[in-house]
Amino acid sequence: MKFYFPISITFLTMLMVSCTHKSIQHMPDLKVKNHSFSNYDSVALKSIYLNLKVDFEKKELAGKAILEIDNHSGTPYLMLDTRQLQIDKVLLEDKTEAAFSLGKEQEFIGQALVIGIEKNTHKVAVYYHTSPNAEALMWLSPEQTAGKKYPFLFTQSQAILARTWVPCMDAPAVRFTYSADIFCDTAFLPLMSAANNFERNKEGKYHFEMPQPIPSYLLALAVGHLEFKTLGENCGVFAEPEMLEKSAYEFVDLPKMIAGASELYGAYAWGRYDVLVLPPSFPFGGMENPRITFATPTIIAGDRSLVSLVAHELAHSWSGNLVTNQTWDDFWLNEGFTVYFEERIMEKLYGKPYSDMLAELSLGELKVTVDDFMKSAPGDTKLKLNLTGRNPDDGVSDIAYIKGCMFLRMIEQQVGRPAWDQFVNAYFAHFKFKTVTTNDFIGFLKENLLNKYPKAQINYEEWIFNIGLPKNCPEINSTELKRVAAMASEFNATKKIKAIDTVGFTTHHWLYLLRNLSADSIKSEMGALDSAFHLTASNNAEIQCDWYVLCIKNTYQPAYASIENYLMSVGRRKFLKPVYENLVKTPEGIVFGKRVFEKAKESYHAVSRNTIANILMIKE
Ligand code: BES
Ligand code: ZN
Repeated sequence: MKFYFPISITFLTMLMVSCTHKSIQHMPDLKVKNHSFSNYDSVALKSIYLNLKVDFEKKELAGKAILEIDNHSGTPYLMLDTRQLQIDKVLLEDKTEAAFSLGKEQEFIGQALVIGIEKNTHKVAVYYHTSPNAEALMWLSPEQTAGKKYPFLFTQSQAILARTWVPCMDAPAVRFTYSADIFCDTAFLPLMSAANNFERNKEGKYHFEMPQPIPSYLLALAVGHLEFKTLGENCGVFAEPEMLEKSAYEFVDLPKMIAGASELYGAYAWGRYDVLVLPPSFPFGGMENPRITFATPTIIAGDRSLVSLVAHELAHSWSGNLVTNQTWDDFWLNEGFTVYFEERIMEKLYGKPYSDMLAELSLGELKVTVDDFMKSAPGDTKLKLNLTGRNPDDGVSDIAYIKGCMFLRMIEQQVGRPAWDQFVNAYFAHFKFKTVTTNDFIGFLKENLLNKYPKAQINYEEWIFNIGLPKNCPEINSTELKRVAAMASEFNATKKIKAIDTVGFTTHHWLYLLRNLSADSIKSEMGALDSAFHLTASNNAEIQCDWYVLCIKNTYQPAYASIENYLMSVGRRKFLKPVYENLVKTPEGIVFGKRVFEKAKESYHAVSRNTIANILMIKE
C-alpha cells in the first residue's frame, strides 16, 4: 500500500496540472467540411498575430496565436483546426480563461480545437507549442545545409499542414491578414510570407506584417543562416551564403519576369517578390508563399535552364494567391492557370520555340499520366475532383497542372489570344482577394466569353467533369523537339552514337531525348551513351532523374552508386517518385530501394517520406 501512495500523488498532481483549464461541457457536433473542422460560416477570422520562439534544441515553436474574429452568428463556439499541437491555455481578449477541448483525432485532418466564446468576443489567444514531428515543419541538422554549420527550419503549409504549426481555420475558403513576432538565436534570420527583414539583428527579434488577406496554406516561415542579394528594384534572393552568388546568377531575369507577368495579367499585388533558396530536402520544386517563393536548390543548374519554375511560382501571385481555389477539389484553378501563365511568361521572355519545348514536354507527361490513371483511378483524371475523405495531396497530379493548362489553351485557340487575354485579365480583376469554385469559374466564363463567342466549340463540361483527355486537346509542335525526336528514333534503330548531335542542347532537349529512347532496344548501348555524354555524372537533377529511370529499366549497374547518392541528397518528391517507382518493379530493385530509403528517410520531408513509403509499401 505504502508503495502506491506516492504514485497516486504524482498521478494526481499530473492530472491537475494538465487539466487546469475548463473543458467544454457540451461538445458540439464535429464535422469535417472541405478538409477542415473550423466553423468559418459562423465566425469570421479576420487576422492572426503570432508570437513564437524558435527552439532548435527542442525542435519546437512555442508561444501564442491571437486570432481576431467577428462572431457574427453569435455561436458559443469557435472551432479551429489543429494537428500535432499542444494547447497550453486559451484566453479571451488575451485576459480571461476560456473553456476549450480538443476533439477526436482524425487521420491527416487532425483535431478540432473547440473554444467557448461570447457574442462579443473579438480576440482569442491560443497559447501552444508544436511537436518535434509536426508535418509542416522540417528541422534540418547543420549537415543537411549548404554551410554545414547551423541548423535550419522551414515550413510547408500547403495543402492542410498549416494546422500543425498554427491553430487556425485551415481551409482555403478563409482569408485573413497576419502579423508576427519571431524570436530566435542571433545567428539566424527568420523569413515569412510577409514584409521581411533583410539582415540579422542583435536582439534576435523580428517583426512581420502581411496586410493583404491570405489563405492559411500560404502561411510560411523559414529560419536559417541566411543572406540577401538584391536583383532589382523590388526583388532579390535569400540563400545561405554558400549558395547566394550562384542563386543570384541563376535568377538574374527575375525583374524582367515580374514586369512581363504584370504586362500580361495586371499589376503585381504583393509589393516585393523575393526567392528563398532552401536546402535540398525541400520536398517541392517551389512553393508560392506570398512575397517570398520557397525554392529547391535543384533548379540552380548553373545555366539558367530551369528558371521556368520561378516563372511558375511568380504566376501564382495572380492564380492562387490573388484568386484562390475555394476547396481542394478546385485545385486545378490554382495550378492549371499557373502552368498556363508560366508558359506565357516563358514565351514572352525567351520566345515561342523555347516555351513550345516546355509545353510539349509537359503534354507528354500528361498523356502518360492520363493513360496510367485511366487504368488505376479514372475518376482522378477529372479536373474537378471529389477529395472528400481523401488527403488533398492525392489531387496533386499532372491532371490539375497540365490538363488544366491544356483546357485553357483550348479556349485560347477557340477565341483567339486577344479575347482570351482580356478574359483572363477580367477574371483576375473580378476575383482578386477572393476564393473561387469551379462553378464560379464556369459562370464567369459563360458570362464574359462564351456569350460573346456562341460559335466557339468550348466543351468545358467534358473537360471539367469527364474523365480522360478530350479529343480537342491542343497539339504542340515544337520544332526543336522534332529534331530531337528524329535523333532518338535513328538511335533506337541504328544504335549509332553519331545519330545524336547535342550541339545547342538545353536541359529540355536532353529530357526529350531520354524520354524518346526506347529502353528495351538500347539496353546494350547504355554504356556507350554514358561515355559519350557523361549522364551518370550529370549534376542537373532533371536530367539525372530521367537518365536514372532509364538505367533502372535496363539494370545498368555502373549507375547504381550515383542513383544511391542522388536518392540520399535530393528530397524533391517529383524526382524521388519516378526513381523509386521504377525500382520496385524488380525484386532486386525493391531490396535496393528499401535499403537506400532506410538511410535517406531522415533527410526526407514528411511529404516525400510518406509518398515513398507508400511506393515501397512500408508502414511509416
Ligand atoms: N503550390 C505548388 C506546390 C504544392 C502543391 C505543394 C500542392 C503542396 C500541395 C507549387 O506551386 C508547385 O506547383 N510546385 C511544382 C513546380 C512547378 C514548376 C510545377 C513542384 O514543386 O514541382
Ligand atoms: Zn504551382
